[in-house]
Amino acid sequence: MRGIGAFKELTEEVEQWRHHLHEHPELEYALHETAKFVSEKLASFGINYIETGIAETGIVALIQGELGEGPTIGLRADMDALPIIEESDKPWSSKVAGKMHGCGHDGHTAMLLGAAKYLAKTRNFKGTVALIFQPAEESGGGGQRMVEEGVMDRFGISRVFGMHNYPGLDVGKFMICSGAIQGGVNDFDLIVKGKGGHASTPHHNIDPIVIGAQIILGLQALVARCVDPREAFVISVTKMHAGDAYNIVPQTAEISGTVRCIEPHLPGFAEKAILDVARGIASGFGAEVEFKYRQLDPITVNHQAETALAVEAARGLVGYHAVDDRMKPGMGAEDFGYMLQARPGAYIFLGNGSTPSVHNPAYDFDDGALPYGIGYWVNLVEGVLAA
Ligand code: NI
Repeated sequence: MRGIGAFKELTEEVEQWRHHLHEHPELEYALHETAKFVSEKLASFGINYIETGIAETGIVALIQGELGEGPTIGLRADMDALPIIEESDKPWSSKVAGKMHGCGHDGHTAMLLGAAKYLAKTRNFKGTVALIFQPAEESGGGGQRMVEEGVMDRFGISRVFGMHNYPGLDVGKFMICSGAIQGGVNDFDLIVKGKGGHASTPHHNIDPIVIGAQIILGLQALVARCVDPREAFVISVTKMHAGDAYNIVPQTAEISGTVRCIEPHLPGFAEKAILDVARGIASGFGAEVEFKYRQLDPITVNHQAETALAVEAARGLVGYHAVDDRMKPGMGAEDFGYMLQARPGAYIFLGNGSTPSVHNPAYDFDDGALPYGIGYWVNLVEGVLAA
């Protein structure tokens, strides 16, 4: 295990890469300049297997260790930015109007490049490291597509690891837990079909707005009264559209929202329960409902043995107490969950200090976290692939 001092020297260069990526943000799958930058850097480290164009702009590069035969482990970084107008006022602010690295994926990419440079030089491990640079984490399902395009099978990856920065956690600290660490995302659309008419004659109409309002409250009662209070569960109605005149009761009302949970049985429960509540309330007033439910990003579930390996790597770097191995899972989502469905592995959070939160226009990745991320990757590789 190497302490943080081993990575300080490399950090200056990695910081320049991070700032370059930050100035040139790209979205979803259209990461052409980013992917070119990453693959050129990888080649300059003497890495001779680099496959580009996976899931359009994703990259997998392989580094063989010098300590003999062994398994292949995957390390994943996401590369995409967000459609936000940057307000960080940093000298390396986005040069592209309306796009910014507002989630720190510039830092994630730069840190994995830093680890790649170190590992390609030292090769103090057995087996192989597969560096996975992924497009479209924020939207577009890049993680899922990389798995569907056979990344795990083709490169023989047996375990896979991910990392994300965490504003609010001190730089130099890590957080992780075994089991669910990030929530799953499920979206829904409801259409309440009533009977429109003149607003002065409610008894001749079936008012989808009043029925919709009761459905919205009914969904919150579902959370409060039908789910085990020890199981985190969120239903947020985020859109309601109905009507466009003062004197007309409309025919329909449209209600949409999102469901977040960390228990694997809850997406299926929510799909049935939301429809039951909506249909029950609507039918009481003679209305009907149309319902669509989509299970999107899966719950990100860390595997026990790989979580222990991740904790060991982080503690080797920063000490026992700087790693919280029993964090409470978050309700945000992460498409690394698809990779953890394909292979055992673990996802860890890296302290980003007291920066604004991710997806905020003032956010910026904290360069002070760079050596910790690089050091974590290197310790993980040298620990998991020890001879
Ligand atoms: Ni992110």
